[in-house]
Amino acid sequence: MEVRLTPDAAQDLFGSALSPDRGFAQTLDASDALAGLRDRFELPCREGVDLIYLAGNSLGPLPTESRHAVEREVQRWASLGVDGWFENPLPWYEIDERFLAPLARVVGAEPREVAVMNGLTVNLHLMLASFYRPSGRRRRILIERPCFPSDRFVVETHLRWHGLDPASAILEVGPHDDGGPTDEADIEAALEGAGDEIALVLLGGVNFLTGQLLDLHRIATAARECGAVVGFDLAHATGNVPLRLHDWEVDFAAWCNYKYVNGGPGAPGGIFIHERHATDSRLGRLGGWWGNDPATRFRMQLDPDFAPRADAAGWQLSCPPILAMAPLGPALALFEEAGMDRLRAKSLRLTAYLEWLLAGSLGEGGEIVTPRDSERRGAQLSLRLPGRARRVHGSLQRAGVIGDYRQPDFLRLAPAPLFNTFEEMWRAAEATRIAVREAS
Ligand SMILES: Cc1ncc(COP(=O)(O)O)c(C=O)c1O
Repeated sequence: MEVRLTPDAAQDLFGSALSPDRGFAQTLDASDALAGLRDRFELPCREGVDLIYLAGNSLGPLPTESRHAVEREVQRWASLGVDGWFENPLPWYEIDERFLAPLARVVGAEPREVAVMNGLTVNLHLMLASFYRPSGRRRRILIERPCFPSDRFVVETHLRWHGLDPASAILEVGPHDDGGPTDEADIEAALEGAGDEIALVLLGGVNFLTGQLLDLHRIATAARECGAVVGFDLAHATGNVPLRLHDWEVDFAAWCNYKYVNGGPGAPGGIFIHERHATDSRLGRLGGWWGNDPATRFRMQLDPDFAPRADAAGWQLSCPPILAMAPLGPALALFEEAGMDRLRAKSLRLTAYLEWLLAGSLGEGGEIVTPRDSERRGAQLSLRLPGRARRVHGSLQRAGVIGDYRQPDFLRLAPAPLFNTFEEMWRAAEATRIAVREAS
């Protein structure tokens, strides 16, 4: 492979050992303490050959044990029917309780601060119902640019629901140049500038398009100082980067569990509500029977008053979708086994190595828009390939390298430390170099 430009992150991590030879990648794999976890997944394959799966930022692959977990629940359904809700072992009635402690560890929370329920967009609506309380001058919502469409639609429709005009009530902060990173100082300046007009801040932890990781602690602090409520969409952050939601005093967060958490397509999402709110059962919310105290939930018409649990699970609405939830247990067990710190350490190395291998291979105008500083990104590298991203994506697919294409000219590649190898980075970079050359 040709020697190319050297982004600093890889130099910092690998020092003088860094080499473009495939053998170097193999050496890294040989000394990788997490390498064995790859065998705990059924990785997508074509004609019996594993694909190089770099799309875990869209949909994580199937943990083998999750297949069995679903089969077990199907079997319970077949043999127990309705009694499956209460019959030991592992009654469905308590299914979500199994996930709370491991999930809390992934996001840096207490178990009573998290719940598993609904889809991400639904949960963002529920969070805004509780936490967006416009009053007086304080009505505006600060969001990011580029913003995931669903988040923007949530914000716009909530504003309209309150009779407000999104054009004036939304405050957007984004990069100075299209595709560049957002400066946290600009978010702070926007908060200071708009002061008592900002009711709520809703930002992505890791931006879906650029892969930039925001300094969530810094933003949470700035929002609090300005008197605004702060919430994060952690779709691309959960299971990807270390989070300390409790310590950072984030008010709320929501995420999907089908990306880095590997919980399965459309897996129920997660919410975090800081304990200072979660334990306040008088806090306004849109309620349902599953958020009621489980001890009295089945008293039904005998106890008609809503008595929400004094934790984040008090925001649940409906009975849990058992078959959709079953994969989550084994998926989270892999995080317990690996630990977020070790996963992050490997993730930094995988991503920096891929970045280093790709540098100089992206052709005219081609660039990696994800910040070069490892502390400002998660696993994902976003490549901007003007006029040829779609073709490069197509060639990579044919070569067995699975990333994803985002209009107009972005290609996203996300190495995941639970199942990707360093040699796959080498092969993916090689395939990208060839695909770019053919598309140019
Ligand atoms: C950043 C972000 N927000 C929101 C969503 C919407 O998620 P859901 O379809 O689970 O509501 C996604 C989905 O990929 C996302 O990446």
